[in-house]
Amino acid sequence: MDSGVWLLSLLVALSTVSHIRSEPILRLPSEKAISSDYCDSWRLAVETNNAGAWERVPVNCVDFVAEYMTGERYRRDCEVVGNLSLAFARSVRMVGDGRDAWVFDIDETLLSNVPYYQEIGFGFEIFNETSFDTWVHSAAAPALAANLILYNELKELGFKIFLLTGRSEYQRNATETNLLLSGYRNWERLILRGSSDKGKPAISYKSEKREEVENEGYMIHGSSGDQWSDLWGYAVAARSFKLPNPMYYIP
Ligand SMILES: *[C@@H]1O[C@H](CO)[C@@H](O)[C@H](O)[C@H]1NC(C)=O
Ligand SMILES: *[C@@H]1O[C@H](CO)[C@@H](O)[C@H](O)[C@H]1NC(C)=O
Ligand SMILES: *[C@@H]1O[C@H](CO)[C@@H](O)[C@H](O)[C@H]1NC(C)=O
Repeated sequence: MDSGVWLLSLLVALSTVSHIRSEPILRLPSEKAISSDYCDSWRLAVETNNAGAWERVPVNCVDFVAEYMTGERYRRDCEVVGNLSLAFARSVRMVGDGRDAWVFDIDETLLSNVPYYQEIGFGFEIFNETSFDTWVHSAAAPALAANLILYNELKELGFKIFLLTGRSEYQRNATETNLLLSGYRNWERLILRGSSDKGKPAISYKSEKREEVENEGYMIHGSSGDQWSDLWGYAVAARSFKLPNPMYYIP
């Protein structure tokens, strides 16, 4: 098997495993046992997906997450990912004919919902669809600075940009408005969940949509997202770039 096929099989195997068994075998200490000086290790476990599915930030790590998300560290972590993404993009052998694609997730990737999460206590509350929808419709999310730079550089290099989000069709106008207001221009396509995508796990929905893009003849060189479910599954990009997000987990 060549290494590409091998890697694909591994990714498919991993995603299958995560479907069958949502509970990790080795569990983190119970929420209360996580002390505040343990939170940086908890964050690393979450970023690497060693923690598996989790529902909310452990009570003792809420202040840690608030400090991280509003501080210099998060900004710099995103910048490092952006710079590595750009270095990869520059090294890519382009196929030409406008068929070179890059896929971006939106929330916590192109747009930052930190102002919203700041209001509701940084992940300590269970996701509230009603209040998040109100926030989406306000179209007030700022750009994630590092990815706005990356986005513009990729366009300069000749990549077609596909935006693939878990947001729904009824949020299209607000999402486009927000993207334009925060500085994004000239994406190739904005893909949102339609009625037939309702209730699908993100990993299946996003894989299906990437496969559709590939079937149209595009080569997906890179993919950027803050969730593993943005990046895993099938029709995965040649390289995937994981942005940090210790606020929430989407299976
Ligand atoms: C990212 O790249 C820019 C431009 O080369 C550079 O100024 C910046 O210091 C880099 N940031 C990090 C965190 O490496
Ligand atoms: C969700 O947010 C709405 C609007 O802000 C609020 O009225 C409602 O009580 C919240 N639901 C929960 C379960 O917290
Ligand atoms: C959103 O809808 C309004 C009202 O229909 C329209 O004027 C505006 O151009 C739309 N914005 C976008 C980005 O499609």
